[in-house]
Amino acid sequence: MVILGIETSCDETAAAVVRDGKEILSNVVYSQDIHAEYGGVVPELASRDHIKNIIPVVKKSLHDANVSLSDLDAVAVTQSPGLIGSLLVGLSFAKSLSFSLDIPLVTVNHLEGHIYANFLTYPGLEPPLIGLIVSGGHTDLLIIEERGKYRLLGSTLDDACGEAFDKVGNLLGLSYPGGPEIEKMAESGDPRAISFPIGRVKGYDFSFSGLKTAVLYYLRKLAEEEKGMQKANIAASFQKTAITMLVKKSVKAMSETKIMRIAISGGVAANEQLRETFSREAKKKGFNVYFPDKMLCTDNAAMIGSCGYDHYKRGDIAPLSIKAEPTTLIY
Ligand code: KG4
Ligand code: ZN
Repeated sequence: MVILGIETSCDETAAAVVRDGKEILSNVVYSQDIHAEYGGVVPELASRDHIKNIIPVVKKSLHDANVSLSDLDAVAVTQSPGLIGSLLVGLSFAKSLSFSLDIPLVTVNHLEGHIYANFLTYPGLEPPLIGLIVSGGHTDLLIIEERGKYRLLGSTLDDACGEAFDKVGNLLGLSYPGGPEIEKMAESGDPRAISFPIGRVKGYDFSFSGLKTAVLYYLRKLAEEEKGMQKANIAASFQKTAITMLVKKSVKAMSETKIMRIAISGGVAANEQLRETFSREAKKKGFNVYFPDKMLCTDNAAMIGSCGYDHYKRGDIAPLSIKAEPTTLIY
């Protein structure tokens, strides 16, 4: 079964062709560069750019997969959560394909899509698992009870983890998105140079805004000439603190649920330090940790096509009247 996946929930216009939910025949991601000068995504510009890019991106995904429109058995698309204008472009396009080709429309939740990046990377991986979604919009710790059945343990009370990377990147004068830039800058810094507060949030919830503000105050105290010298240390120390927060709550979730396996996904899961820290901790504490291939961590449509396949198998077909939803979650 050949599914075309479409993803336009934020600032990536993406299309992918996936066979039987697990074989990626093509995976095209166009990252909009128009937002860099604003230091963040401008929703109206994002939706206009999706309109411009959706046809070339879908065409390229078909071309790369060596299939034509008539080979498609279904179209899967992100319907929630995300920027409403951005979601509408992908959803409307998917509806028109479904109608004109007379193939089923399957709608996918973006967060469930992120979880499927791990199922794509490890085809034998099956729940139960602890899930940690760390992206620009979400930081969610959950139990993946089975495919399609999720229970939220905790999430961020303020900034998402990726959002904190982006905001701290901004404070350090780095370009948007700040996550990969901070990772690069941190390579030449000392993660133990500055001790930023870990934040004491109860249960499984997270908070990143205090850490971000601590970086702001630290920078304010520095003399102008010290700032340049300290940037790498700030990046490394911030990164280490953010990762420590994620590890702490994840380990707590695993020891309390006795599910000693964790699947991490979302843009921040591409961070090498995060991957190394979790892997080290896994060896020490005896759990298994799974990360998607790096290209499947950040937004892409292969994860949407893969997740869409399971929805299709369950008979979960969407009517053409379905609406885009900016905030619906899966738990
Ligand atoms: O999953 P994603 O592509 O989009 C959302 O669903 O939000 O995640 C984007 C987020 C951004 O905040 C970006 O800075 C962060 O993921 N990110 C990273 C890295 N690559 C992307 N954060 C830290 N280290 C990275 N290497
Ligand atoms: Zn995402």
